[in-house]
Amino acid sequence: MKILKPLISEFESLLENSNIHEAIDIKISSIEKFDYQINNLVKYQNHKDIEKILNGVEKLALDNQIIDSFEITEKNFFNFTINLNNVQDYLENFKENIKTEHSKKIIIDYGGPNIGKPLHVGHLRSLNIGRSLYHTNKLIGNSVTSDIHLGDWGMPVAQIIAYCEIQNIIINSITVDQLIDIYPKSSELYRSDKSFQILAKEINKNLNENENESIKKWKSIRNVSVSELKETLSILNHDFDLWLGESDVNNIIKPMIEKLTKEKKITLDDGALVSTQEKEPKILITKSDGSYLYLTTDLGTVLNRLENYEHDIVLYVVDNRQKFHFEQLFESIEYFDFPEKKYEHVGFGTVNDEKGNPFKTREGGVKQLIDLYKDTCAYLKNINKDLNEETIHELANTVLTYSDLLTNRKTDYKFNLNKFTNISGKTGIYVQYAQVRAKRLIEKSQDKDTNGELIITNEEERNLIVSLLNLEFYINQSTKFNEPHHLANYLYDISNLFNNFYQGENILSVENEEVKKSKLLITKYFLQNSNLVMSCLGINPVNKM
Ligand code: ARG
Repeated sequence: MKILKPLISEFESLLENSNIHEAIDIKISSIEKFDYQINNLVKYQNHKDIEKILNGVEKLALDNQIIDSFEITEKNFFNFTINLNNVQDYLENFKENIKTEHSKKIIIDYGGPNIGKPLHVGHLRSLNIGRSLYHTNKLIGNSVTSDIHLGDWGMPVAQIIAYCEIQNIIINSITVDQLIDIYPKSSELYRSDKSFQILAKEINKNLNENENESIKKWKSIRNVSVSELKETLSILNHDFDLWLGESDVNNIIKPMIEKLTKEKKITLDDGALVSTQEKEPKILITKSDGSYLYLTTDLGTVLNRLENYEHDIVLYVVDNRQKFHFEQLFESIEYFDFPEKKYEHVGFGTVNDEKGNPFKTREGGVKQLIDLYKDTCAYLKNINKDLNEETIHELANTVLTYSDLLTNRKTDYKFNLNKFTNISGKTGIYVQYAQVRAKRLIEKSQDKDTNGELIITNEEERNLIVSLLNLEFYINQSTKFNEPHHLANYLYDISNLFNNFYQGENILSVENEEVKKSKLLITKYFLQNSNLVMSCLGINPVNKM
């Protein structure tokens, strides 16, 4: 954290003097009495210079302005509280303070819906996590590009086209509802009917060879599907920089395969192309009938991005179940000597229903995201009849986002509307309510000039301010591990501390003007901070509740 930087430097040079070269790591204290802890010294209990080091630390701690009180325990844990007299500047310039020193260029591949199918519950986490990583990285000054990476190519689309052909469905006037109906039927038929299989494969081949008629049909299907996707995504407050997909790399694949064959990186094996990397099982690059696999288009996509979008890192926000696919992809990228970038699979678990079963509709089908959104709106309307449409819309999105991000992405969770909308629980509604209260307080005070001086008068205020300072820490955690839950939990914590502070007294009737001004200032800092975290999570603050 920037505010503790001078302290860290002093600590580090002190250790340097005894030939210990390491980065000092400041953690949020697990002991109630203290704010932070430094554990670096624990492992040096038997160091020959330890007495000298501890004396140095003590002197440093006594002299350093930012430290209020401290202790060095028997095991050499260094615990301290922070002096809040000099933190106002830091709080005023929060947005600057959280900027990263080494800005990176990041591509985030998330969402990844397939055309012909509507968005469903299985897309929720990719969308939420991807959007959160997007906004958080942008906020700290990284340059970020989002790519929805549509599944808009290959066998599934060929099957839809084939189905339309045998059923005489006119493709250029096809509707979304028709597509939703056709998708499962065509893949079912593909499994059971040999002649249908032959037809679909033929169409798939035509598509890969850019044959005019097939491409025209594909375009109609893609257009209908994409405009539906855009509509739903905009209701759910999602937006993408790039609307690319598997189809965009079709022309890259052939030359890629030729080059890799020439370099002996891939070879024929029973008609299929496999990687020559020593691996068990062998990594399959194309099928024996020449058709492309998921891996083939993902390799093409890597090349396309290298060619056209400058970047240092690619994050793939995709279900845990695709872990193996991404392992194969990343290994192949390395083996094929593609230029070195950092690739990471940001995996996540499943959203289940209240009982822990796969989330289904009452009829047993997959639950569409738009229906989940509508259910949530209806639920909210029912518990609070006074809310206007706009607020309901934002709160529904808050519920669908916040509860999702609160869970560590690696674990599954149960979707429970009753629990997720509880105003006194750890919910999106709770955090919205806290910031609405803060906003209302500032409005009511009619105090346009919040430029007073910060005066801490009680424990609640102190706890709130210290925790506001910690935003930087949680942003670091979230971006370092690609885990938005650190920030989601943090938002609850500061909202809770704000409520404790707010409920303690009637702030507007505090008589001492300076103290009142300070309390409004604390409220302003909370509001600023809460709105920043919300923006990181992809949540829009509401104005009324
Ligand atoms: N369309 C894929 C699916 O439905 C997800 C795409 C994820 N991104 C990627 N580059 N593979 O499973």
